[in-house]
Amino acid sequence: MSPRLKGLKVLLCVSSGIAIYKALDLASRLRKAGSELTIILSPEAREMVSDYVFSAVGNCPVYHDINQVRDGWILHTELSRWADVVVLAPATANTMAKAASGIADNLLLATILAAPDKPRLAVPTMNTRMYENPATLRNMKCLRDNGWHVIDPELGELACGEFGMGRYPDNSVIVGELVYTITKKALAGKKVLVTAGPTRERIDSVRFITNRSSGKMGYAVARAVRNAGANVTLVSGPTGLSFLYSIETIAVESAVEMRDRVSERLSESDILIMAAAVADYTPESASEEKLKKEEGPLELILKRTPDILLELKETEGKLLVGFCAEGKHLVQSCSEKMRRKRLDMIVANDISGTDSGFDSDYNEVWFLFKDGRKIHIPRSPKEDIAENLASEIANLQQR
Ligand code: C5P
Repeated sequence: MSPRLKGLKVLLCVSSGIAIYKALDLASRLRKAGSELTIILSPEAREMVSDYVFSAVGNCPVYHDINQVRDGWILHTELSRWADVVVLAPATANTMAKAASGIADNLLLATILAAPDKPRLAVPTMNTRMYENPATLRNMKCLRDNGWHVIDPELGELACGEFGMGRYPDNSVIVGELVYTITKKALAGKKVLVTAGPTRERIDSVRFITNRSSGKMGYAVARAVRNAGANVTLVSGPTGLSFLYSIETIAVESAVEMRDRVSERLSESDILIMAAAVADYTPESASEEKLKKEEGPLELILKRTPDILLELKETEGKLLVGFCAEGKHLVQSCSEKMRRKRLDMIVANDISGTDSGFDSDYNEVWFLFKDGRKIHIPRSPKEDIAENLASEIANLQQR
């Protein structure tokens, strides 16, 4: 979870989609991430799930009545002033249509109308035919033009039994997009190519050599630079991680494939972040069929894989960021690597401990810069490190 969620004042506005039960889980996740919640239910939403449940799950006040008297407050203006961010989830076609045209005939709509200066996120969910109706599409466009971040629903089975666009996305996607909504767009207009994960080098049709990289660091970096407004392409080795919303992802297997995809995309990119743990060796030849098990040892001859960074051409004017994992003499050997690979910056991972680095949610790193500057980031969640890295990259771009 992003550190930006801690202490964030989230005004969760809930309208009456069938996916309302998922909004309870959203409230619970935000609470666990340290956000401060206030919830507004539309009158129809309140018919579906009581304020009692929302209040208990969100550990927060829940409002629905525009005429409710509370300490002399004018509820809708006070709540709109209080919020750091407004989240409308689920967003029904009806509520979006009213919000798009400035109708304020309940507390939820009046509060939204009073918050045009706040970051706002809408999560549309409904039946496909309602979603694809030109009226709904027009209203969503209108909300986007008015500064809302409206996320696309998912394709899948709907509560009405039909199949199509309209499903409520996973709450991890919504929380991620909430962070996007509140992040300063310091990398707006930049095209960033990120690599992540391990590579897999084939021995035969079923066996391969790989390493312990989970891809978590590279995926967190892709998300952080996208949250900062960059247009991101992710070249990913095999990982067990979910696809990232709004990030074009190119799946690759071997080091050679990764090199080819990176080379193809580099010319259109402003920044390359090589977070992948590229295998250093690959079998000299891979068998098309599964090798038969024999008595005695099996000899494998390995050759070096291409060094992607060293092979890159036309890097002039691009910002190149690498990663490197070492135990001993971390800063010294990673600085040497930065120079040899002509990088502007390298993220040096300390893999001497057992509780950070490969396959962990945490890392302890140094940011080393071409001009000799060094920044130590103590053991922290990979999301925090990725957000720090995105800010440092934005600073380098502004120099
Ligand atoms: O593996 P090594 O320590 O050399 O990795 C340093 C940087 O070089 C990383 O950013 C990694 O993605 C990149 N690399 C590469 N091609 C390789 C091996 C590593 O571009 N074959």
